[in-house]
Amino acid sequence: MTVPPPYRTPPAVSSEGIDYLPRPCRVDVDCRRREVAVVDVEQLENTFLPEESRAKSGRDNIFAWYARYQQAKALGEPAINGTVGSLLENDGSLAVNSVVSEVLRAQEDVDISSYAPLAGLPGFIELAPELAIGPRLAGLHELGLHTSAVATPGGTGALYLSARTALAMGDTILLRSLHWSPYDRLAQECGLKVAHWPIMPEEVTNHPKVDLPALEAELESIASNNPRVLSWLNDPAHNPTGLSLDQAGRELVLDAFISCARAHPDKGVTLLLDTAYAVYAEEPYGWSETICSKFSWVEWPENLLICWAFSASKSHTIYGMRCGAIVFLHPSEDYVNRVAEVCTVTGRGTWSLAPRLPQATLLAIHRDEDKAAAWAAERDRLLEMLHKRRRAFNEAVLSSGMPLLPSDDGYFAYVPCDAAQEIAERAAEDFLYVIPMNGGVRVGLCSIPDDEVERAAEVLINAWRTVTG
Ligand SMILES: Cc1ncc(COP(=O)(O)O)c(C=O)c1O
Repeated sequence: MTVPPPYRTPPAVSSEGIDYLPRPCRVDVDCRRREVAVVDVEQLENTFLPEESRAKSGRDNIFAWYARYQQAKALGEPAINGTVGSLLENDGSLAVNSVVSEVLRAQEDVDISSYAPLAGLPGFIELAPELAIGPRLAGLHELGLHTSAVATPGGTGALYLSARTALAMGDTILLRSLHWSPYDRLAQECGLKVAHWPIMPEEVTNHPKVDLPALEAELESIASNNPRVLSWLNDPAHNPTGLSLDQAGRELVLDAFISCARAHPDKGVTLLLDTAYAVYAEEPYGWSETICSKFSWVEWPENLLICWAFSASKSHTIYGMRCGAIVFLHPSEDYVNRVAEVCTVTGRGTWSLAPRLPQATLLAIHRDEDKAAAWAAERDRLLEMLHKRRRAFNEAVLSSGMPLLPSDDGYFAYVPCDAAQEIAERAAEDFLYVIPMNGGVRVGLCSIPDDEVERAAEVLINAWRTVTG
């Protein structure tokens, strides 16, 4: 009798999409001899799961395309990886800010093993506004504004806290029409309805990147029909386009929120700035500049709150350490402290508390002049790598006729088109792997080596021409 092998190869799956190569897994030999029971999964699902859980399905589109790239690479094809949302070195390895990993490894046992306080390490809570708001923090304090912060598991935790605490189930959150897809999941988890304003003006307006009439109309509609307003704005270096607003654009958007707050003094109006990619933008702290100059002569409406979702995932290349913070800015010190308390309680009931080790690491870096300078030098190297790839990509696309949304900063570029799936499939035939989305193709410049960018642009342009005729 043939003895069954003790190992079998499981289907390739991954929760994080980083490792799709099949790993051997131990199989209980006795189990293999048992009759295979045929189960009706749908029936079991109906038995076990409520409707909200049954509605969850599907493998992440991004990771599925990444797996296709990896498969092509493993087969020895000249595959180009434009799929992932992590910055890769030109040799395809993960780009790691070496200062962060050195300092991380040097942390004390207590910071490795112990819980952090529920709101975060006291030093980290002070540091987070500095990292999120930047050099203008002192100026904002001088204007009489106050800040507070709560440590979160990544920027995602900050987004979640804002949705969970600023809105109630059934309320509406305002997003731009094109956004990081987990925004929808987060909104659903919080029982929110979603309203949109266009990522780009559909007609000529007073700013090429801000559809002000649409923003004002959405804010007015939400404020009129809901008890509160919350909007997430991913800027600068928007995912998935790379779009960054300039000073004039930021001012228009800020004015719209100020006007909404003034027109509805009984409604809380919260603008959350998702600055996950800010350090890889030309103006990383542009929002702080805009806010500081606006409120140096305009009075802050009491019912306006501005928050930042700070993320250390990209800025410090510690994606998996889950380090972030929600940062609040408002004229009332008591209120910023109170809303931080509310968020701390929400966090306690959701993920308990944020990991201590990365908080201690960021503190050790940014409270030491030499280490902070070394971190910044490494960040600048990564920034220049991204600039170089983007310059080459934009130049190649410029004269091709292929549309490209404003491609300014950060990790991605975006080709708006109806036939995204077909274009991505056509590009894959020439070994370029990109992400088809609803309404366009996302190109991960962050993962394409410098010397492959031109070929990637050519392949994509050809695919676009072939599909769109
Ligand atoms: C636009 C945007 N916001 C927020 C995040 C959250 O990042 P993290 O939770 O890893 O800090 C990401 C991550 O990819 C993102 O792309």
